[in-house]
Amino acid sequence: MTSLIKSLPPHLQTLLQTHPDLSIDAKEGLVFGQTPLQAIATKYGSPTWVINADILTARYKKLDQAFKDEQLDVSIHYAMKANGHLAILDLLAKEGAGADIVSGGELLRALKAGISPSKICFSGVGKTEEELTLAIETQIAQINVESREELHLLSKLAQKIGKNAAVCLRINPDVDAKTHHKITTGLAENKFGIAYKEAISVYKEAHELSNITPLGFDVHIGSQISSTDPYRQAFVKMVELIKEARAQGLEVSTLDCGGGFGISYHDEQEASPAAIAALMKEVLAPLNLKLGIEPGRWLIGPSGILISKVVMHKDNGADTAPFVIIDAAMNDLVRPAMYDAWHGILPINAEIYQRPYKALNIDGPVCESSDIFARDRSLPNLQPGDFIAILDAGAYGSVMSSTYNARPMAAQIMVSGKQAEIIQARQSVEDLWQDEIIPTFSSKNT
Ligand code: LLP
Repeated sequence: MTSLIKSLPPHLQTLLQTHPDLSIDAKEGLVFGQTPLQAIATKYGSPTWVINADILTARYKKLDQAFKDEQLDVSIHYAMKANGHLAILDLLAKEGAGADIVSGGELLRALKAGISPSKICFSGVGKTEEELTLAIETQIAQINVESREELHLLSKLAQKIGKNAAVCLRINPDVDAKTHHKITTGLAENKFGIAYKEAISVYKEAHELSNITPLGFDVHIGSQISSTDPYRQAFVKMVELIKEARAQGLEVSTLDCGGGFGISYHDEQEASPAAIAALMKEVLAPLNLKLGIEPGRWLIGPSGILISKVVMHKDNGADTAPFVIIDAAMNDLVRPAMYDAWHGILPINAEIYQRPYKALNIDGPVCESSDIFARDRSLPNLQPGDFIAILDAGAYGSVMSSTYNARPMAAQIMVSGKQAEIIQARQSVEDLWQDEIIPTFSSKNT
């Protein structure tokens, strides 16, 4: 293998430095973990999601090890909303992970993947009676209750079923996670959790209500958080709260510390498991709690990419960079359109890297001006037929896809070393209308 890294312009060298699982080989082109992507792109076509099982497993082990190094016993509940494919849950379950779920659908999916109810916690502001009933019946480890109203409903349902519900109260600490406003959850203005100043009184009620087993508290302040500062602020507030609860004679055994650990999409620093573990050790260990976390993006984000093919190279004159239209779109990966998210883009075939670099606009084909993947991105001059990889697409990628513009869902492949297997077949166009029904009154009119 001859790496091309030294011949790359500085901005791509930086991108590769923040993405140690990617390399560019003079012959094999872009290599993801141990897997060259050229053959995958040619064999499976595009757009195609690729999940690298080796990277995912290594990331899980790194996170788990960071807590072990601090002699902290922390349960990892994978936030499966980030990517709940059964193959991913299966892999993480085998590593020992539990699941953080947000719907009855995710509960059934986690159980289907073989995750024990004793390793499942349930978050979410609008759990329905049916979902809560299912959670009580399956006796999951922990229901993160987000309001006084939900606590009372849960007690009523648990009495009806004749079982107990184990509860943590999700507290809104009013701490700024310093991330994109659309993925901030711990400010008082956000809908999530119980207001900090209400926490003790609601926790008291939890002790008085029938069929409720109060375990403690939960705090999740947002997503894609790159510094430990917001966590420190939130944890310090939780420590005060737990001390106050204990002083009032209320038992607190558990603190769920949420998720949100950021990854490096561009040149930002990825959240360090060692730094998070050290912080938890320093601030939380003295309280002798059962600790848990709910990471999603940090585990699966860098473990996935989206392969796409250039459809058109469209020159709109001197006032703008050329538009490179690709066959992936906002219906596949909505993050750039929804959060102005920046995703790295790298050509897959080695020979593309020999071309002159040019500022390019990379856009999807959907009829929306927000269907953008990159603006003025300096890349080798891409041409129709070229394959590219959109990086860090494992989290909040395929799970947020739609079929807008009658575009079938993309195929999904899982790779490990030199092996690759389809884990989700490409949807056919016919699949899109198979459940659609023309009402009888319309057919009567003809
Ligand atoms: N726990 C709770 C209660 C959550 O709401 C979330 C994410 C997580 C854990 C996991 O957060 P993570 O570790 O993945 O940051 N679609 C957005 C992200 C939405 C996050 C929603 N909640 C995006 O693509 O950036």
